[in-house]
Amino acid sequence: MSSRSITVTINGEAVTREVEDRTLLVHFVREDAALTGTHIGCDTTSCGACTVLLEGVAVKSCTAFAVQAHGKSVETIEGMADADGTLHPLQEGFWEKHGLQCGYCTPGMIMSAKHLLEKNPNPTEEEIRWGISGNLCRCTGYNKIVEAIQYAAEKINSQSAENVGRNEDEAAAQQEVTP
Ligand code: FES
Ligand code: FES
Repeated sequence: MSSRSITVTINGEAVTREVEDRTLLVHFVREDAALTGTHIGCDTTSCGACTVLLEGVAVKSCTAFAVQAHGKSVETIEGMADADGTLHPLQEGFWEKHGLQCGYCTPGMIMSAKHLLEKNPNPTEEEIRWGISGNLCRCTGYNKIVEAIQYAAEKINSQSAENVGRNEDEAAAQQEVTP
């Protein structure tokens, strides 16, 4: 079985390992990088529990080879919260809106939702449902997940508006002190 050394930047940290060509990305993430927040539900590209972001794009990591991620960046659920533990608005939304029960689908759901909100910061309910259509949940009935993503979209947009306002205030203050 042929193998090779690959380096994948996962949540900002380079992970270099010798892998067999057949190694799936999900096994690289879970076993080589020891990041078990990414789940395996079906191993057949159906459930979405294994979803990660590869170069910012949501992919089912049971359907990609680890070698395809060589030299690229991967983001997993472990990379969502800030270093100080502050939850990402999507994580907060799932908490606040009770968007999970057993939680098995949740990491993959959140990664798909992150991709969705980065492409479309103001999705309609229909667009949210379409955006997570590759992720199956056996518990929630999806309504609470949709509400969680709507919560996150609102929070991200209000944070962006606050940042724009702060930058404008700082620029105006700078002009006042500049003769
Ligand atoms: S484990 Fe990858 S889609 Fe189900
Ligand atoms: S919360 Fe149980 S599968 Fe979604």
